[in-house]
Amino acid sequence: MVKKILIVSGSHKKNGNTAALVKWFSEGAKEKGAHVEVVHAAYLKYKTNGCRSCRACQRSSKYECVVKDDAAAALAKFPAADVIVMATPLYFFSASAQLKLIMDRMFSLYKWDNKTDTMTTPLKGKTLVLLASAYEDTGLDALAQPFKITADYTGMRFKSLLVANAGESGDIGKLKGISERTRAFGRKIG
Ligand SMILES: Cc1cc2nc3c(=O)[nH]c(=O)nc-3n(C[C@H](O)[C@H](O)[C@H](O)COP(=O)(O)O)c2cc1C
Repeated sequence: MVKKILIVSGSHKKNGNTAALVKWFSEGAKEKGAHVEVVHAAYLKYKTNGCRSCRACQRSSKYECVVKDDAAAALAKFPAADVIVMATPLYFFSASAQLKLIMDRMFSLYKWDNKTDTMTTPLKGKTLVLLASAYEDTGLDALAQPFKITADYTGMRFKSLLVANAGESGDIGKLKGISERTRAFGRKIG
């Protein structure tokens, strides 16, 4: 079975470190026959500045965001993917705002039943992958926490490849062995 991998990239840089990680990971996954699609969160057209907490998604039987924009179209691809990859630079020890614009709207991809304390979600059983890089060597573990907890919360497996000391945008290729390590990780997931 061909694995479907959806990558949401949260960097504004078209030739930066996140872009390099996404490229190397995709190359590895494709070597294993996976189908890879990349969504560039920084270049989508949004009708709302993030989740507006209208909760209309929770009153609907569908797993869809009711704000019909490019983010909703991106989220509509999640249920069909086997693997969801979130790629981000470390910004102030956290994910980029561009990635958060998509992440928070993942609220529409599950239903929480307060009466029975149970969740139903098409995310269950998928794999969530975090690809991230940072200039320094502190903060990446903290960054990974909300992704790991989100994976646990929604019944997804969690895997990550975190690159410290990656330098400024475009410098990551200077790190010895990192392109091959990322390709190998892509082959493992693909
Ligand atoms: C707004 C901003 C905030 C950043 N915050 C951090 C940080 O907290 N810690 C760190 O090590 N690097 C930080 N960086 C550096 C980037 O995380 C790092 O250079 C990353 O590899 C860049 O990826 P990109 O080329 O995809 O943008 C920051 C960069 C920017 C522009």
